[in-house]
Amino acid sequence: MNKKVLVISYSQSGQLNELCHNIVIPLQESNDVDVTIKQITPLKPYPFPWDFITFMDCFPESVYLDPPLIETLEDNEEYDLVILCYQVWFLSPSLPITAFLKSEYAQKKLKNKPVITVIGCRNMWIMAQEKVKQLLLEIEAKLIDNIVLIDQGNSLATFVTTPRWMLTGKRDSLWGIFPEAGIAQKELDNANRFGKAILKGLQENKEKEFKPLCQGLKAVNVDVTLIKSEQIATKSFMIWGKLIRKIGKQGSKKRRPVVMLYVLFLLLIILTIVPLNMLIQTILRKINKDKIMKQKEFYELPSGSGIQRLKEYTSDE
Ligand SMILES: Cc1cc2nc3c(=O)[nH]c(=O)nc-3n(C[C@H](O)[C@H](O)[C@H](O)COP(=O)(O)O)c2cc1C
Repeated sequence: MNKKVLVISYSQSGQLNELCHNIVIPLQESNDVDVTIKQITPLKPYPFPWDFITFMDCFPESVYLDPPLIETLEDNEEYDLVILCYQVWFLSPSLPITAFLKSEYAQKKLKNKPVITVIGCRNMWIMAQEKVKQLLLEIEAKLIDNIVLIDQGNSLATFVTTPRWMLTGKRDSLWGIFPEAGIAQKELDNANRFGKAILKGLQENKEKEFKPLCQGLKAVNVDVTLIKSEQIATKSFMIWGKLIRKIGKQGSKKRRPVVMLYVLFLLLIILTIVPLNMLIQTILRKINKDKIMKQKEFYELPSGSGIQRLKEYTSDE
């Protein structure tokens, strides 16, 4: 009997769709699997490229997981595996994906089903995945793998290239200093290794055991220097987000001054406290090495950062 795989995605530039497409090619090419790809469509589309105020204005709803209205999904299928592809917005799942996870359709189709999450983002995804884990738990879905691809370049470079891409649509390398924005093409191309491993797992009925199918394939890598920053930033987003949500609804003119005040506050923090905090965190990480390594291991679950099967699944490239 053919295995049925449901793929859910919401992409703006098309990058996440390319990633998810590369992963599912081996499944689509197999006679053993039927793949259904569904795009999430918000009733009120988000802009791309973004204007700055609309971009910042959607952080309160993103962090508070306030679902926007999306086009209803419906079908009579029962799926064996679900691949959920999402981008990160303000250390949270993107709003269309939050809406999907809170939809009746997801409650029906994902209950007791194995789910593989696929993230394509700048580089800060840990807190978003914790939120997705919680949303999956609430609908009794079983997370069996997490695959994460991040933008090329170091944190400083992507702090320029990713926002430039989001706000202007421009992806090319800048001044010969900054790399192209987004995930490196080679990384996107090599993502088909996950599809091959998922296919093998399905053929061996491994998904029914709710165990990872993508271990040993370098599916994730937690950058320990970002754990604390994500935790601190999440707290700040929650505090300011609560205040801004009280002032008005998303898009309302009333909240713009406070959103801009928060941007100023963020700039001030980035220029003053962030460098000092980075220094303190570097020292603390040295002192708390064991604790940090445990955190890294935890956030890398269930797929892990191991590379022991890489050769087997990338040998023909
Ligand atoms: C509103 C917004 C907020 C974002 N916040 C984050 C973030 O917190 N962490 C991160 O790593 N990337 C963040 N990104 C980048 C996205 O995760 C993603 O890389 C980018 O939107 C490209 O997605 P696409 O492939 O669907 O076009 C954000 C993007 C947008 C539009």
